[in-house]
Amino acid sequence: MAAGKRLICDAAALVEGGEGVRFTVRRGDEELSAFVVRFGGLVHGFLNRCAHIPVEMDWQEGRFFDSGGLYLICSTHGATYHPESGFCIRGPCKGQSLTRVAVEELDGKVYCID
Ligand code: FES
Repeated sequence: MAAGKRLICDAAALVEGGEGVRFTVRRGDEELSAFVVRFGGLVHGFLNRCAHIPVEMDWQEGRFFDSGGLYLICSTHGATYHPESGFCIRGPCKGQSLTRVAVEELDGKVYCID
């Protein structure tokens, strides 16, 4: 299947260190949960799947950041990830990473690149 773009949300919906927006991506036969957040002025996309145990990360829908808005944190056991790289810096899966999903911000919209 040819690569394509799918709209996730308006760019304005993603504020620095604020709530993320969930969407889904197809990988083979599976429809997987994913999310986008804004950090360092840029939009970052990852599968919504902790590197420790493959559960969704947000303790409330869209709440991926810690209270300081600096790190992504898994609601289950507190694994803490850098929001630009997805690298786990603290917790049971320290040294592992979230799986990046290709996203693009263009003309005020955020897209998933399939
Ligand atoms: S499932 Fe995420 S830290 Fe354990």
